Amino acid sequence: MSVNNISVEKGFVNKKIEAEKDVVEEINKLKKEKNAIILAHYYQTGDIQDIADFVGDSLALSQKAAETDASIILFAGVHFMAETAKILAPNSKVLIPDLNAGCSLADSCPPKEFKKFIDEHPDHLVISYVNTTAEIKTMTDICCTSTNALKIIESLPKEQKIIFAPDRNLGSYIKRITGREDMVIWNGACHVHEEFSLESILELKKEYPKAKVISHPECQKPIQLISDFVGSTAALLNYTKTDNSSEYIVATESGILHQMKKQNPEKTYLVAPPKDSTCGCNDCNFMKLITVNKIYNTLKYEMPEVTLSQ
Ligand code: 13P
Ligand code: SF4
Repeated sequence: MSVNNISVEKGFVNKKIEAEKDVVEEINKLKKEKNAIILAHYYQTGDIQDIADFVGDSLALSQKAAETDASIILFAGVHFMAETAKILAPNSKVLIPDLNAGCSLADSCPPKEFKKFIDEHPDHLVISYVNTTAEIKTMTDICCTSTNALKIIESLPKEQKIIFAPDRNLGSYIKRITGREDMVIWNGACHVHEEFSLESILELKKEYPKAKVISHPECQKPIQLISDFVGSTAALLNYTKTDNSSEYIVATESGILHQMKKQNPEKTYLVAPPKDSTCGCNDCNFMKLITVNKIYNTLKYEMPEVTLSQ
């Protein structure tokens, strides 16, 4: 890709960029010059995953942010993830290539209503996972991710009353596995994971009878129940690596297929179809706001920056 092709994004100075330089090379140069690293979520497009210093799920990305001594963290993911990186790495400048990269799940848990919910359930420990705003995190006793939520809840005494937020599907999955009747669940959801169609997955399964169905716990219960494996993005990736099947129907955001294909190129991966086959909603429109060109501009001009007062 040539730097010539870079469209300077809205909000940036419309500056002519030097001719004939490769944008990936330019990004690498800027990273070195500025002591910057790029952290990318598995839901980013393949070209972004390939230029990142580290690709991972929300847990691994938070851990990376906490341990880095980079002056700049460029976060190729959504806003709550960059905000979490800022909480964990307060001395680094945290940049996100598009401030509109929000999250329907984080938005489904507004602070005022959540505070009221907490007040209605005194004596409950508040466990929320990372797909929340910084304000919700300030009301949280334990912050987990979809990867370690089950483990954390299993480690708590049985008599401990729990509020779990923000995702109702992940919450009821945990409730079903642990049998914890005293867990109340916030009624939030992710618009991508809620859109997978049970009927269409079963149709696809007729065409590929040997394919295993694997799903994220943010999918609705019927999808979880017909799945051969349910797990977070990192767990799904690990499953396709260690399992000996050769075909998978994957019910999570389609970006994860890039790493699956890199890991085991000889296997077949089919994206689970959404309810509306024309909507393309197994792609997270927020995650997909990030582009390589925006990464270049963001690194060059060091904006937009994520600060905790936003
Ligand atoms: P992970 O916690 O598996 O990275 O998922 C993040 C996310 O956005 C789920 O939709
Ligand atoms: Fe949020 Fe869903 Fe997108 Fe994940 S896939 S970032 S939960 S909207």
